[in-house]
Amino acid sequence: MITYTKAIKGKKRAPGVIPLHGPEGFAGMRKAGNLTARALDMLAGHVRPGISTAELDRLAYEFACDHDAIPATIFYRGYRHSICTSINHVVCHGIPGNKILREGDIINIDLTLIHEGWHGDSSRMYAVGKISTRASRLIRITYESLARGIKAAVPGNTTGDIGAAIQQYAESQRASVVRDFVGHGLGTLFHDEPNIMHFGTPGSGPELKPGMIFTIEPMINLGRPHVKVLSDGWTAVTRDRSLSAQCEHSIGITEEGNEIFTLSPAGLFNPQEPGPQALKS
Ligand code: MF3
Ligand code: CO
Ligand code: CO
Repeated sequence: MITYTKAIKGKKRAPGVIPLHGPEGFAGMRKAGNLTARALDMLAGHVRPGISTAELDRLAYEFACDHDAIPATIFYRGYRHSICTSINHVVCHGIPGNKILREGDIINIDLTLIHEGWHGDSSRMYAVGKISTRASRLIRITYESLARGIKAAVPGNTTGDIGAAIQQYAESQRASVVRDFVGHGLGTLFHDEPNIMHFGTPGSGPELKPGMIFTIEPMINLGRPHVKVLSDGWTAVTRDRSLSAQCEHSIGITEEGNEIFTLSPAGLFNPQEPGPQALKS
C-alpha cells in the first residue's frame, strides 16, 4: 500500500539521469502493468455504438477502486478523469464526456493505473462496430510501428534506434508520425527520464541499458503529422483533420532484450489481430 500523496508525487530526480530499476521495480511494474491491461480488456466489452466516453471513464474508475489502484491522471495537472478517450481525428488526450460512440468510429483509450506505487501505462485502439478499410489499415500500421519500436528496444541500441524504426516503417506506409508527444520513463513516477521520441536518427540519444523502464506510444496519422490542441487545453487533433491512431506499452529493458508489462491477458491488445500472440516480444 502507498498513500495517495506519495503515489502521485513519487521521487524527485536530477534532470537527465535515467533511473535503472532492479527486480523489485520489475515486479512492481509487472503487477501494475497487468492490472492496466486487464482494465483495458474489460473496456473492450463495453465499446459499442451508443455508449458515452464518460461511461467508459466511470467503468475504468470503478475497476481501479475494486483493484486497489488509482488512475494516475486524476488531478494530474488539473486533469480530472481516469482515462483519455481519443476518437477518429483526435490524436491524444481526448477528455471523456457526453460524447456518444457511433458505428465506424475508432477510439484510443489510454489508462495509467498506480498500483502499490508503480505506474502501468497503456493505450490501445478499439473499433466501434464495423469500421472503414482506411481506419483498419491505419490501426494495422500503428500496431506494426509499436512492434518495430519494441523490437529495437534492446540493450546496446539507443533511444534514437526506437524512433528511427517507428518512423521508417510508418513513412514507408505513407503515414506520418506525430512529433509533439513522446514516450517516457516511468516507475514510481508517471513521467520520468528518458524521453522516447517516435522518430529520429539511428544511434542518436542515450544508450539503452538493462533496468530502464519506459513507454513507447506512437501516434500515427493518415495525413500530415501536425497537431493542434483545442481550447480545453488537452484535446490534441490533427490539423488537417486526418484520422489518427495510437497504441502504448510500458516495457523494461532486460539483459536479453525487453519485457512488456502491459500485455493483454485476454489477447485483446491489437483489435486487428486478436489472440495471445498480440505483441509478444
Ligand atoms: N497516459 C498518458 C501517457 O501516455 C498521459 C495522459 S495525461 C492526461 O503519458 F492528463 F491527459 F491524462
Ligand atoms: Co498512456
Ligand atoms: Co504514456
